[in-house]
Amino acid sequence: MTTRPVSQDGPASRPERPGRWRRAIDAVDERMGVKALAYPVPEHANNLGWSLGGLTAVAFVTLLVTGVYITQFYSPVPESANQSVRNLVTHVWLGSFARALHYWTAQAMFVLALLHLLRVFLHASYKKPREGNWVVGAAMFLLTFLAVFTGTVLKWDQEGYEALAHNLDVAKLLGGLGIWFTPELINRVPILLRLYSAHVTLIPGLILVLFVLHALLIKRHKISPHPQIPAPEVETPEPFTAHLQRVAAFGLVLLGALALLAVLVPPVIGPTPVEGIEITRPPWMFWWFFPLEEWFGVASIGIVIAIVFGLIFLVPFLDRSPRRRWQERKLAMGAALFLLLALIAVTIEVWINNPKGH
Ligand code: HEM
Repeated sequence: MTTRPVSQDGPASRPERPGRWRRAIDAVDERMGVKALAYPVPEHANNLGWSLGGLTAVAFVTLLVTGVYITQFYSPVPESANQSVRNLVTHVWLGSFARALHYWTAQAMFVLALLHLLRVFLHASYKKPREGNWVVGAAMFLLTFLAVFTGTVLKWDQEGYEALAHNLDVAKLLGGLGIWFTPELINRVPILLRLYSAHVTLIPGLILVLFVLHALLIKRHKISPHPQIPAPEVETPEPFTAHLQRVAAFGLVLLGALALLAVLVPPVIGPTPVEGIEITRPPWMFWWFFPLEEWFGVASIGIVIAIVFGLIFLVPFLDRSPRRRWQERKLAMGAALFLLLALIAVTIEVWINNPKGH
């Protein structure tokens, strides 16, 4: 007769069987190695501020889903682009909602990525050894900005057309480098089609590749220590799944708010554009450089965008001191605050004094 081994705790204790959800994750991981992206999350990162990167990723996925849907009904040629968007909102099942959700989520992604960048800056999380990951993040932010720009042009109304016209002016100043934006590259293919292909493949594809690199680097370096909170003697990091659940909970609130906005305030679409006039103002994400054309000429737009993004990319190389507490980084904090306030001031100036554009 065989006897069962009896444990110290009594006969009933058995090794606990993992739940269905965990078994499913383990099964996928065994085949796809998804856990390679998981990183340990310290106590100080269990809050909204340190979940902003995750929320940016939630916005990005929402843009992919809504984008794939609305692109089925979009015609990327100047003759029919505007009408195809009108048909999308009037004739397609959930077309108006999908377009509105895409529109609001694009703005949310821009804001969330900016807030995430500011969080990383405030806590000096870009310092050694995370300089490279800051640059990867900055590249994703630049791509987000380019996605908003190309998306604005696609609807091919007056606003989109003028955005493109300004861009062509700046591209001309770049000489040979700006050729991608001009019909000289190939005049049989409309530039709208090239911008469309960039908007739906090149830009999101690059963001996706960079995001995987971003996540692998976070895992390698671990989440940065909090500059004001001393590290505990014994680290008890939260399991990544718990962090994911928190990001998912914040993400659901975000999606709920965006869906509400999409229903209550759907984006408008103007009539087909008229060449040679300037009567609109661009979406608010571009207001920080919008009046420069009037003040200093069209070249200043390109120069200021290059300077602002150049400075963002260079942050870890300009500020090389090991100090992490904000009180000890007066120069870096002062310079960043000055730049941020200047950009906000120009944005508010356009909002108040320039309701219609040029
Ligand atoms: C645009 C899309 C972006 C996504 C989806 C994203 C995602 C994430 C996620 C999920 C984290 C983990 C911690 C957290 O959420 O705070 C993180 C950390 C980080 N991100 Fe991003 N990020 C983006 C953009 C940026 C930008 C614009 C920068 C800076 C220019 C940046 C720099 C960093 C750095 C340095 C870390 C490590 C922070 C630490 O260890 O405390 N990221 N990112």
